[in-house]
Amino acid sequence: MSVTCVIGLQWGDEAKGKLVDLLTDDHEIVVRYQGGSNAGHTVVTGSQTYKLSLIPSGILSPRVQCVVTGGVVINPASILQEIDGLVARGIKVSDNLMLSDRAHVIFPWHVTEDGILDKSCSSGENIGTTMRGIGPCYRDKVARSFAVRLGDLYRSDFKEKLRYIAEAKNATIGPLITPQPFNSTEIVAEYIGYAQRLKPYVGDTTAYLLDAVESDKRILMEGAQGALLDIDHGTFPFVTSSNSSGVGVSSGSGIPGQWITKVIGVVKAYSTRVGGGPFPTEQENEVGQHIRDRGNEYGTVTRRPRRCGWFDAVAVRYTARLSGVNALAVMLLDVLSELPELQICTAYEIDGQRVTQFPSHVDDLRRAKPVFETVPGWQRDITKVRTMQDLPAEARKYLDRLSELIGRPVEVVSVGPDREQTIFAERKA
Ligand code: GDP
Ligand code: IMO
Ligand code: MG
Repeated sequence: MSVTCVIGLQWGDEAKGKLVDLLTDDHEIVVRYQGGSNAGHTVVTGSQTYKLSLIPSGILSPRVQCVVTGGVVINPASILQEIDGLVARGIKVSDNLMLSDRAHVIFPWHVTEDGILDKSCSSGENIGTTMRGIGPCYRDKVARSFAVRLGDLYRSDFKEKLRYIAEAKNATIGPLITPQPFNSTEIVAEYIGYAQRLKPYVGDTTAYLLDAVESDKRILMEGAQGALLDIDHGTFPFVTSSNSSGVGVSSGSGIPGQWITKVIGVVKAYSTRVGGGPFPTEQENEVGQHIRDRGNEYGTVTRRPRRCGWFDAVAVRYTARLSGVNALAVMLLDVLSELPELQICTAYEIDGQRVTQFPSHVDDLRRAKPVFETVPGWQRDITKVRTMQDLPAEARKYLDRLSELIGRPVEVVSVGPDREQTIFAERKA
């Protein structure tokens, strides 16, 4: 049996897409199990760059089965656009893609609600969502009454159900929006069109994956977002609306934890965050700008400049433990190459107390002052390095220190966006 999970351990964009692509060849099935089109996963293969959002990054390998489970929220227009874009570039998207009939569907009111609700966050600071309707769709799923799953689009009562929901949405959020109310007739027609096009892909992914694990298929789980954005264990309320840490794999996919054989925690060699919320190691200065420039740190989905800062070992040790991580992949190491000195946050000081436990309340995190350890940089181009031995000694020491602080071995190091720009450490027995 083999279920490997790729989990981001920071606030997303850790280069999970690149790692999933690299590991795809060793697997038969690649699965997206939470999140939605808030995700933007980049794969660079020679001259081609692909930005995947709802479709697993494994789609670039035609022999791999890609699965989007019931834990994902699907905007039909977005996924169809993504499918069309891939097909136009010669990528096979047919029976190698399966979408769960249990996945919840995003409607125009979810996107509208995302805009309205993000502005009324109680602390006064916006969550800064991706405005894709993710949170409102998950909210309707949990509340149940106004929820529609992909499989519902094919049922005889769909039109009636949608009219009822559209009327309810017009009554509740209608007064808050200036344009016309939602026109249920138009939305029904639009979604019936989507349903027809999506029909060949829709099926029971839970049954499929349970059969797959029981018949020893090699499965790769592609996490979206990062563990610090986990709805239950992240920096609430500045989080996404799903379990984006390792704990979400089972609930999102239906595969019990007993089948999971390996969890790879993906980190950047520094930290970034898009959107609001505390970020103790943030560098709102020339160092942050240098990282943003070298790392091209602008959102894949929204193109917003990402907030940048030093590596936070307190946060990552927490999320590595939470996610059951066995090994680390340290990405974008090359971005730090020009800096003469690097800093690693090894503890926080909160109200004069030194702590190494990640605070559960966002207000405590807001008051946390990072305790930094300064280490020398390597100031050499490493983008052509392909073995651990060929990395400058300072870079190896930096990786060793991260590994020591997090308590997990580093198995993969990435020194550039391309597939080729990767170092696989020799696995320790
Ligand atoms: P994901 O959401 O975790 O898949 O990450 P994103 O794709 O949103 O962001 C990662 C960005 O870093 C993408 O633009 C990648 O092409 C790029 N990238 C990945 N690995 C490396 C690396 O080792 N070095 C550099 N410089 N860029 C990288
Ligand atoms: P990938 O999979 C980085 C952030 C948003 C916002 C918060 C809530 O590419 O790593 P949402 O739209 O989910 O309600 O927004 O979460 N966010 C991400 N940040 N990478 C992502 O995905 C993200 N998906 C959501 O910026 O702060
Ligand atoms: Mg991303």
